[in-house]
Amino acid sequence: MIKKIIAIDGWSACGKSTLAKQLANKLGYVYIDSGAMYRAITLFFLRQNINLSNAAEVLEALRNINIDFRLNTDSQHSDIYLNGENIEDLIRDLSVAGKVSDIAAIAAVRTFAVAQQQKMGNNKGIVMDGRDIGTTVFPNAEIKLFMTADSAIRVERRLKELSPKNPHITMEEVKKNLENRDHLDSTREISPLRKAADAIVLDNTHLTMDEQLEFALRLI
Ligand code: DC
Repeated sequence: MIKKIIAIDGWSACGKSTLAKQLANKLGYVYIDSGAMYRAITLFFLRQNINLSNAAEVLEALRNINIDFRLNTDSQHSDIYLNGENIEDLIRDLSVAGKVSDIAAIAAVRTFAVAQQQKMGNNKGIVMDGRDIGTTVFPNAEIKLFMTADSAIRVERRLKELSPKNPHITMEEVKKNLENRDHLDSTREISPLRKAADAIVLDNTHLTMDEQLEFALRLI
């Protein structure tokens, strides 16, 4: 079968990466979590205390960032590495989640990340999830999904995911973070979160993981 590019966009915490991983496994495609790249850049900026309003400082910081994905043989998924360090767990922290939307709105940051993402799609056979994959990164993707779910369900799911490693996290904190990011991500000037005109909406509020996978596979 001819390999495709599958672009999955949507609101925060509505199951994009779960579906993307399932599809990549099923189809033997590469899965790329574009959000993890923005989170990795954010972690670097936080560690180096980069002044976001200083364009030269931002550019210099980007020059010192090397991001790659390597297969984790335990989980059978790829982990993200920042300058050779596995930061897969660190980037899920709320300190990163609280800052990532500001950093992802910077033009130089987007140029840096999008160029790498487009390169990863050169050979097709890729599932990428994010906010601007169907609109900006791969406007010619053969399959485009735009995912959504009720906000209460999204908060509940993300809380469940974060709680084991963050025992003190509250529902209110998670809710605020998701609302804040969705607002910033959909109102920023460059490549805001948007449904591409040719994307199919997938609302998984009342779907099981198997049902959503079946929906996507039928589409593909
Ligand atoms: O998918 P995620 O929640 O891990 O993404 C983290 C943030 O990164 C998200 O709030 C906005 C930004 N992002 C983006 O601007 N463009 C993408 N393609 C993916 C993520």
